[in-house]
Amino acid sequence: MVDGKQAGTVAVVIAVDGPAASGKGTLARSLAEHFGFPHLDTGGLYRAVATRLMRFGGDPTDAEACEKAAKNIEDRDRKAPNLRAEEVGQAASLISAHPPVRAALLSYQRAFSATPPGAVLDGRDIGTVVCPEADGKIYLDASIEARAARRVKELRLRGVESIESRVLKEMQDRDARDIGRAVAPLIAAEDALKIDTTGLTPGEVFDRALTYLAVRLE
Ligand code: CDP
Repeated sequence: MVDGKQAGTVAVVIAVDGPAASGKGTLARSLAEHFGFPHLDTGGLYRAVATRLMRFGGDPTDAEACEKAAKNIEDRDRKAPNLRAEEVGQAASLISAHPPVRAALLSYQRAFSATPPGAVLDGRDIGTVVCPEADGKIYLDASIEARAARRVKELRLRGVESIESRVLKEMQDRDARDIGRAVAPLIAAEDALKIDTTGLTPGEVFDRALTYLAVRLE
């Protein structure tokens, strides 16, 4: 039982992975609230490295500069007003392909996940690399058209007008980079529950995840 684990010193880890706009952030936040666990948006860490690098005029293809930025991220990088901007997402996906960047962020993510009573982490490699022993692993995906439409809506809500075909193209580029990189590529863990969220409401995704977790966390 989750409650039993909560009483002890063991941390319950829930990993939520998937590509951009697959719904992983929404699901991870809902699960964290439901179980009373803290939530870590690991994409935000890579985005923070990107904003720091951009602030210092660094080049995302320069592995050494990226590693230095990753080792020195501060609160203000994580709270940068442009953190969710599309260009920051693109830069984050270039930066995150450098193995030393991933290594620099790994211990923070592992420490976060290992703190009782538990945690929900969302990202690209949580179930495969960061927390391969996670108690529950969920991998979300959706059609590229559905994901691009969601991102356009999200941007519009933030007051950013964007062209759907461009968002779709940028998303395809980012997917290709995230899937194709040599270290910690975006891939579903073999033992993850896979949900195609195309056409599902956030509530329906949450219900499926909870049914699966009820069994896994017994
Ligand atoms: O919100 P969205 O899905 O657009 O992006 P994000 O989750 O904030 O991640 C931004 C970028 O960081 C991704 O495209 C990945 O390249 C990288 N990332 C990663 O490599 N590993 C993670 N665990 C999380 C993000």
